[in-house]
Amino acid sequence: MAKVKVKYVCTDCGTESPKWMGKCPGCGAWNTMAEEAETTFKAPVGRGERLRAKEKAKSIIDIESGREPRVPTGLNELNRVLGGGLVPGSLLLVGGDPGIGKSTLLLQTSHALTSQGLKVLYVSGEESVRQTKLRADRLGALSDKLYVLCETNLDLIEEAIADVEPDFLVIDSIQTVYRPDVASAPGSVAQVRECTGQFMRIAKVNGVATVLVGHVTKEGAIAGPRLLEHMVDCVLYFEGERHHSYRLLRAVKNRFGSTNEIGIFDMSEDGLREVLNPSELFLSERPLGVSGSTVVASMEGSRPVLVELQALVAPTHFPSPRRMSSGLDHQRISLVIAVLEKRMGMFMQNQDAYVNVAGGVKLDEPAADLAAAVSIASSFRDLPTKPYDVVFGEVGLTGEVRAVSRAETRVKEALKLGFKRVILPEQSIKGWQPPAGIELIAVRTVADALRAALE
Ligand SMILES: Nc1ncnc2c1ncn2[C@@H]1O[C@H](COP(=O)(O)OP(=O)(O)OP(=O)(O)O)[C@@H](O)[C@H]1O
Ligand SMILES: [Mg+2]
Repeated sequence: MAKVKVKYVCTDCGTESPKWMGKCPGCGAWNTMAEEAETTFKAPVGRGERLRAKEKAKSIIDIESGREPRVPTGLNELNRVLGGGLVPGSLLLVGGDPGIGKSTLLLQTSHALTSQGLKVLYVSGEESVRQTKLRADRLGALSDKLYVLCETNLDLIEEAIADVEPDFLVIDSIQTVYRPDVASAPGSVAQVRECTGQFMRIAKVNGVATVLVGHVTKEGAIAGPRLLEHMVDCVLYFEGERHHSYRLLRAVKNRFGSTNEIGIFDMSEDGLREVLNPSELFLSERPLGVSGSTVVASMEGSRPVLVELQALVAPTHFPSPRRMSSGLDHQRISLVIAVLEKRMGMFMQNQDAYVNVAGGVKLDEPAADLAAAVSIASSFRDLPTKPYDVVFGEVGLTGEVRAVSRAETRVKEALKLGFKRVILPEQSIKGWQPPAGIELIAVRTVADALRAALE
């Protein structure tokens, strides 16, 4: 047997080397050099390539524009994340933990698209067609326009695409597909890159909206080369806590829309249901009248969401106290604790502090700072917060409370859910009329906010 020549390629930056190295000579990252068989580049000769006319460079003025055509998927939460719907010819990557519901989401989307008369090809490399059929039975996703194929050989998948001519294509998952002319195993850097490249060409040339399902690594990133995320138009992550039934769909890259929006679903026996009122869901298990629990009005894209922010401050016997946070940036929590120590005289050097956003939501706006400060101070002093309060605002280094955007939208959401008071930055109450039925407490400093919330 002829010996296959190998080289080593960095999965982060693509630097090549003839021998293995622990550290990438290109980007300096450790343990990123992956073995790959040497291949010579052959220009693709697919059906689409032959049909394509030779392109000439054009002046940008002469290029026709207009809005991207969008195909609404029938799942409003998915449309919201995509920025209105699927763009024909776009390539999407959906990643998520094992068993989180990726196949369920895509099968439901496929069904919704077939109800609009579109043709869908669902290629599963992980499950047999019978398994897919069983799931479709359970989800009520049967349609004569939904074609299912169990195949991992890219050439055969291409034949099926030419045969079915779908409007929407699902590849579940990209790590199982292989190109027979590439010598490495399915899921390797070379295979994933080559196959994604081929799907990109198929998507662009035939105008098929294509979704690739991607496995994630232990750290939560999509497995395979980093390059994968550069090649596709959208990268979506499907997340959720194993012990909860709700799931969040989040865009980390979107060439056709914003990446701020999240979609919220509830997983049930008959599939994913859209959650129309997320605040209600996230507050459903909230304890009332205890210390360390505050409700924050956060913006998830264009939508206000109320979530509970919990803190626990407890004495420690270790010399360096622990600072743990989940759902919030660790650095911001350290900052808030430093402000409480320095400006409020709350000494926490011998205290562990844990901060948690209930329900597995991730808050990445500074507007959550003030709620974190109130929760931590409430737990530290063991004073309960008021169950009818909502808090938001950014905390500055001198202990001042800074304005945040969309205050009116946040206040209205609090009113809608029956809260009685909102503690917010003074600067944020300018330029709009507060609605009747809710009391606004405008604060300038963290000290003011703590006085209002805890006393
Ligand atoms: N009969 C059932 N009743 C209720 N929920 C179910 C049922 N069968 C499956 N589920 C839910 O569906 C989830 C699996 O969904 P799905 O197979 O779509 O996940 P996946 O992300 O595609 O997983 P994988 O990584 O294995 O491909 C399960 O974790 C479970 O929550
Ligand atoms: Mg699956």
